[in-house]
Amino acid sequence: MRLLSARLIVSLILGITLVSSGFSYYEVLEEKRALRSDLERRAEMLGESLVGNVERSWNTGSDIERSEKELQRLVQRFGNREHLLGVVIYDRQGTLVATTPELAKTLTVSPPSVTQAIAQGHKESSFVRLGSMPVHILALPIRRQDEVVGGLAVVHDVSYIRAQSLLVWRQTFFTVLAQVFLIVLITLLIVRWSITGPIARAALWMRALRTGKVSFRQEVPDLAMFRPLAREVATMAESLNHARNAAENEARLREAGESMWTADRLSVQLRSRLGDSHLFVVSNREPYMHQRNGKEVDVVVPPSGLVTALEPVLNACDGTWIAHGSGNADAEVVDAHDRLRVPPEDPRYSLRRVWLTKEEEEGYYYGFANEGLWPLCHIAHTRPLFRAADWQYYQEVNRKFTDAVLEEIKNVANPVVLVQDYHFALLPRLIKEKRPDARVAIFWHIPWPNPEAFGICPWQRQLVDGLLGADLIGFHIQSHCNNFLQTVDRVVESRVDWEHFSVLRQDHRTMVRPFPISVAFTDDAASENNNHGFNYLDRSALLRSLGVEAAFMGIGVDRVDYTKGILERFLAIERFLDKYPSYQGKFTFVQIGAPSRTHIKRYHEFFAEVEAEAERINWRFQGGKWKPIVFLKRQHSHQEIEPYYRAADLCMVTSLHDGMNLVAKEFLAARSDEQGVLILSQFTGAARELRDALLVNPYDIDQTAEAIRAALEMEPEDKQLRVQRMRKIIKEHNIYRWAGNLITELCEVRLDAPEDVREKSRANVSVA
Ligand code: G6P
Repeated sequence: MRLLSARLIVSLILGITLVSSGFSYYEVLEEKRALRSDLERRAEMLGESLVGNVERSWNTGSDIERSEKELQRLVQRFGNREHLLGVVIYDRQGTLVATTPELAKTLTVSPPSVTQAIAQGHKESSFVRLGSMPVHILALPIRRQDEVVGGLAVVHDVSYIRAQSLLVWRQTFFTVLAQVFLIVLITLLIVRWSITGPIARAALWMRALRTGKVSFRQEVPDLAMFRPLAREVATMAESLNHARNAAENEARLREAGESMWTADRLSVQLRSRLGDSHLFVVSNREPYMHQRNGKEVDVVVPPSGLVTALEPVLNACDGTWIAHGSGNADAEVVDAHDRLRVPPEDPRYSLRRVWLTKEEEEGYYYGFANEGLWPLCHIAHTRPLFRAADWQYYQEVNRKFTDAVLEEIKNVANPVVLVQDYHFALLPRLIKEKRPDARVAIFWHIPWPNPEAFGICPWQRQLVDGLLGADLIGFHIQSHCNNFLQTVDRVVESRVDWEHFSVLRQDHRTMVRPFPISVAFTDDAASENNNHGFNYLDRSALLRSLGVEAAFMGIGVDRVDYTKGILERFLAIERFLDKYPSYQGKFTFVQIGAPSRTHIKRYHEFFAEVEAEAERINWRFQGGKWKPIVFLKRQHSHQEIEPYYRAADLCMVTSLHDGMNLVAKEFLAARSDEQGVLILSQFTGAARELRDALLVNPYDIDQTAEAIRAALEMEPEDKQLRVQRMRKIIKEHNIYRWAGNLITELCEVRLDAPEDVREKSRANVSVA
C-alpha cells in the first residue's frame, strides 16, 4: 500500500507540474505579446507626434546651429516617458544630430533599423540589445518636402517585460506547490477512506473468516466502491464457509461413525460413480419457468414435489435436466440448442427444454397423463378417462423426449439417465433400444395400484413393457413395488424374481426397488435455520397480516388436487369446531393452495368446491376478527411458506392417496424449534417413515377432528420428542441419500451383453 501511495504521489506531482507549467508557459507568451504590442503602440504614438515636431524644426540650411539646438530641446522634452530610454535624431548619412543624454554614448551611429527606415522611407520596429540591455527601437524617417532627410529613433527599455514574465513564473511555482500539496492531501484521504480502509477491513474480515472467527454472513465489510470485487469476495467467502462446514461435517460424521448424506457427499459419490459419464434427468415439469409479465420476464418455480426433490441433486452434480418448456417466455431465454444454465441466480446445471404443440400438451399431459394415469394410480375415486387420441399423443411425446435425450447423450459414453414419473412410461425402452450402453432408471413418483385397478387401462401391456426397458424402476415404498411386480406378472410374458425383486423379460433384467424420496435436510440446513437468527414470525402477527385473530394456527400446503384430501380436511375442521366449541374463535386453519392443472374440468370444478367449502364453513362459524379457514389460493414460494410452517401449531397432510408427500417432510425440516404436530394421512408414502405423526384415515372425519384436538392439547415434551425423532429420520434419509442410493444401484446394474442387445434388436421389441 505504501508503494502504491508513493507512486500515486509522484504521479500527481509530475502530472500537476506538467499541466500547470504548460498553462503558465502559454500565459507568459500571451503576457509578453500583449506587453510588446502595447509598447509598440506607445512608441508609435510618441514617435509620430515627435517626428512631426522634428520635421517642422529641421534646419532649412540657413541657421544650422539654431536648428540643432531646437532639435536637442525637443528630444529632451520627450525623454522622460515611462520605460523610455531616449530619443535620437540622425541626418540622412546616419550622423547623430540630437540625442537624449542616456543614449549619447551608445547610439552615436545610427542603428540598422534607422538606416533601413531612412533608405526605405517607412517606419521600422525592432527588439534588439544595446550592450546587455534589451531595447525596443522604433525608427521613423524624417521628411522635408517629400524628401527623406534623416531618421528618428525612439528607444524603450524592455527589461520590464522580462521581469513581468519572471513574476508569472514565480507565481506559477507557488501555485503548483500549493496545488500539489492540496491535491495529494485530498487524494491520500480519499484513498485511505475509500480504498485502503475498506480493503484493510476486508482483509481483517477475510482473515477472521479464514480462521473461522466469523460467519460469512456477519460483518461483511463495506466494499461499495468495488462492487464486482465485493460480490466475488462474498461468493468466495460463502464457498469457503461451505467447504469448511462440509469438511467439519465429514470429520464429525467420521468420528461419530454416522452415515449422513450431504450435497458434498453426493457430489463426491456421483463423481466416483459416474466417472467420465454424466447425469441426465428427464421430467415433464421443468424446475424453472420463464413467464412474460409486461416488459419483464419472471422466473417461476412450479409447485411440484418432484421439482423440490430433484433440484438439490442436479445442483450437486452439474447434470442436464430435460423437461417440457411450458413457460410463455421459455423460448426467449434458451440458446440455439434450447439449453440454458440454471438456477438463474447461481447457475449450476443445464436445463434442456423440449417444445410441445398445444395438441400434444392437451393429449399427452392433460389427457393421458393427468386424466388417465393420475386417477388410475391414485385410488381417489375420480374415474380415469382413456381416450385413444390421448394415447397416440402420449406415445408421440414419449418419442419426442427420446429424441431430445438421444441428442443430449450423443457424445457421452455410458450415460446415466433418470427418467421421472408417469408421463414417460415408454421412455426407458425407447432410449435403451437406441443406446443399450446407457444406464436407465425410471422413478415413479405416484403410487402403483393393485393389478386389478391398473388392469382397467386399455394400454397396460404397452406401459408395463415400456417401463421394463429400464435397468431400474424405483417407487417410494415397498408395497408399490409389490403392486408393480404383480401387475407385470399378469400382463406381460416375463419371469418375476420375487427373491431379488427383479423382472427378466426378453433377456433384459429390470430391478425394482423402493427409494423413499425426501427433502434436502442436513445438519448444515438445520444449523443454518438456527443460526440465521430467524425470529420466526409471531403466529398472531402472521394471522393479523391475513386479517384474522386467533390463538392457534394450523397449516396445509397443497396443489389443489382431488387426491390431497382438502375437502375432507375442511370437514374435519368443521367437526372439530362442532365437537369442541371452546376452540371457536381460537383456532384458524391456513390452507395454502396452489392452483394446478385447472385446464382439466375435474380440477377446475374441484378448485371451486374447495373455495365453496371454505366459505360455507367460515360462514357457519366466523365472528369478529376470527374465521376458521383462510384459503390462500395462489402459488407461494418456499420462502413464503416457511414462516407458516414455523409458526403453526399443527400441519395437516390428509391425502386420500399419495406416493410420498413432501409437505410432511418440509414441515418437519422447518421445525428447528422441535415443536408443532404433524397430522398425516395413513395413505401417504410418508406415513411409512413418520410413525410419530398423528396418523389418520382422512375419510374418517371424526378421527381427523380428534387428531386436531390431540395436536392442540399435546404436551410440549411429547411434541418435542415426536418432532425430534421424525427430524432425525428425515435428516438421515434426506434427498441426497435418495439420489445416492438410486444412482449407486443404477451404476451397479450389470448391462446386457452386446450379443443380447443385437438379439433384442432382431426381435424388434416395440412399444407402440
Ligand atoms: C406430482 C407428480 C409430479 C408433478 C407434480 C406437479 O408430484 O408426481 O410429476 O410434477 O405432481 O404436477 P404438474 O402436473 O403441475 O407437474
